[in-house]
Amino acid sequence: MNATNDYPVILEHMSKAFRVDGRLVSALEDVSLQARAQEFVTLIGPSGCGKSTLLNIICGLLEPDEGTIILHGERNAPRLGRVGYMPQRDLLLPWKRVLDNILLGPQIMGRDLAEARREALDLLPLFGLEGFENHYPATLSGGMRQRAALMRTFMCHHDIVLLDEPFGALDALTRRTMRRWLLDVWARFRQTILFVTHDVEEALFLSDRIYVFSPRPGRIILEMALDLPADRRERQAAAPEFVAYRQRLLQALGLEEG
Ligand SMILES: Nc1ncnc2c1ncn2[C@@H]1O[C@H](COP(=O)(O)OP(=O)(O)O)[C@@H](O)[C@H]1O
Ligand SMILES: [Mg+2]
Repeated sequence: MNATNDYPVILEHMSKAFRVDGRLVSALEDVSLQARAQEFVTLIGPSGCGKSTLLNIICGLLEPDEGTIILHGERNAPRLGRVGYMPQRDLLLPWKRVLDNILLGPQIMGRDLAEARREALDLLPLFGLEGFENHYPATLSGGMRQRAALMRTFMCHHDIVLLDEPFGALDALTRRTMRRWLLDVWARFRQTILFVTHDVEEALFLSDRIYVFSPRPGRIILEMALDLPADRRERQAAAPEFVAYRQRLLQALGLEEG
């Protein structure tokens, strides 16, 4: 028996097409996937394969044409506002200071603002934003802006969180620091995470499980549960399992070297 409650997110046979200039363009085809409670699940695939569309469907901004979404065991339940979501663009409001941007999340959730503010001040150091709470987004580095947007997302305390290429626009060095940092944050909040990336190393470092998507229309062409140390710092690139997982990923994505 496979109790659906062990899987806060289950998608069954989901398809989605968009009408573009009168033609129907298929974005996702027959996608089924699941995420366990407190699992870090990564969706990886080429640009345009429907990853953002998938997250938009899970959080309730879009409806699928076909298929079922089961959240916490509930079929086709209302989803808007029940899932934490950080869209691909960080969407910090340029005219609001960092702290006010962060408090937008809890504000929209209808949380007690004085309490949310106390929590935010308490969390600023973990997010590397201490001393920057009164700055405007434009004066922050790219990494800091992403951490502010992530903090806004985490402060909503949803137990399912969708992150759409949160480090996609950052330089390689910052990305490496940010992925290690994200694990510290996750250790504190422990949600079920669905994480979108097109970075193979990032996926291997962060994930418990990886789904690889084909080019558009996005279909799942590989599901890979990683039997690697839970402590990500021990996921040495030299470990034979790690190398084998990387090869399978690169092969599935058509990026094989040599
Ligand atoms: N609102 C929309 N209207 C029409 N086409 C869309 C819309 N949103 C996405 N698409 C198309 O669907 C496909 C998947 O897009 P997207 O989910 O953004 O891919 P990814 O995030 O994997 O890069 C692309 O071909 C994109 O152009
Ligand atoms: Mg996208």
